[in-house]
Amino acid sequence: MKVLVIGSGGREHCLAWKLKESKLVDKLYIAPGNAGTSLIGENVDINPQDLEGLVKFAENSKIDLTVAGPEAPLVGGIVDRFESKGLKIFGPKRDLALLEGSKVYAKKIMRKFGIPTADFEVFSQPDLAKDYVRSKRFPLVIKADGLAAGKGAIVCKNREEAYSAIDLIMTEKKFGSAGENIVIEDFLSGEEASVLVFTDGETIFPLVPSQDHKQVFDEDRGPNTGGMGAYAPAPVVNDVVFRKITEEIFEPLIRGLKKEGKVYKGMLYAGLMIKDNQPYVLEFNVRFGDPETQVILPKLRSDLLEVMLKTIGEDLAEVNLVWDERFCLCVVLASGGYPGKYEKGKVIKGLEKVEGLRDLFLFHAGTKRRDGEFITAGGRVLNVVGLAEGLIETQVKVYEAIKNIYFEGIHYRKDIGNKALKYL
Ligand code: AMP
Ligand code: GLY
Repeated sequence: MKVLVIGSGGREHCLAWKLKESKLVDKLYIAPGNAGTSLIGENVDINPQDLEGLVKFAENSKIDLTVAGPEAPLVGGIVDRFESKGLKIFGPKRDLALLEGSKVYAKKIMRKFGIPTADFEVFSQPDLAKDYVRSKRFPLVIKADGLAAGKGAIVCKNREEAYSAIDLIMTEKKFGSAGENIVIEDFLSGEEASVLVFTDGETIFPLVPSQDHKQVFDEDRGPNTGGMGAYAPAPVVNDVVFRKITEEIFEPLIRGLKKEGKVYKGMLYAGLMIKDNQPYVLEFNVRFGDPETQVILPKLRSDLLEVMLKTIGEDLAEVNLVWDERFCLCVVLASGGYPGKYEKGKVIKGLEKVEGLRDLFLFHAGTKRRDGEFITAGGRVLNVVGLAEGLIETQVKVYEAIKNIYFEGIHYRKDIGNKALKYL
């Protein structure tokens, strides 16, 4: 089979790597990919937002299965377009991709189906939003309705911050039309975790729970990033919490949608806040997480391609997911200055020293090849991932490997996985 993966990050390198393991895959394309994906497949220079270009490529190259990594093509309706041409693609259609594409839609669905989430109100006028804020206790969280590259949620400690957030999103239009409506929701404290499920609209298969590290510096300090590291399993999701996530979140959602004639097929990701063994949904994503995927797929023993095909065919019940029981941990190596301004084009040294190490994986993100060398080409550059028996052993394995890698300005968190230590 010919398979196309859309995207260029660590998640996509990992997806491509896992798909390539399948005996069914003969040829792998990645659009646009990175230096890492060019080592395992053929990079095709098409932007993930160029839906027309992607459809044409898939038709001309007779692609048997397409997998979209990032949210933009899904929210833009790529699944509807591919299916209208008879092309197979993994993911939800546009109407259900709204679970990520519109926070207002997602919150209203959660309220309708009784799914635990922070209490909220929706506003389309800044004055009314400010009136509401005056009646509330702090902190509060103000979110742009539409896609904002993970930057559209602002935690406000007091009234002034809330007013500024409302002005930023609604008046200054920092996120463009994504900020025409906002959600103002109560602040939830607790520990965050990510639970992703495969679903064909009927069967729901949760993957191993994981935990992202969004802030740039150790101990969750500094601004938010796309994710600086992750590990799985995340022990904050104990058996009680896991059952609640299934019974109180995914089942009511998938069943509720189906009753309305909407069949959700693909990957569904819940970003959760867990407090006193109770999970609350912070957000839904309609795709694989980054960097969560990089710690989930190395633990998956089953054939990913088969799982995806069965999802599309609504035969997921026939699949048996088999997991490697070991711990998996990912540390993201970032460019100097990221998540703010950063320079590109720095030579990456030492990769050959970690290539071939047992149970150690290198998933590229912002990388390119130039004159036989690897150079930096983005904010998040590399994902160093290790598998080992226990948490501490895995931390040591990954951080030891990182010592071999260098590029000017390199920085990374030194505490990935530490939040799980209290559960040992
Ligand atoms: P979101 O884009 O909705 O996932 O929000 C991004 C980040 O903001 C989350 O990962 C949390 O760290 C934080 N956040 C969002 N909503 C809340 C909330 N209601 N209470 C506390 N923190 C939140
Ligand atoms: N890890 C955050 C995300 O994928 O949205």
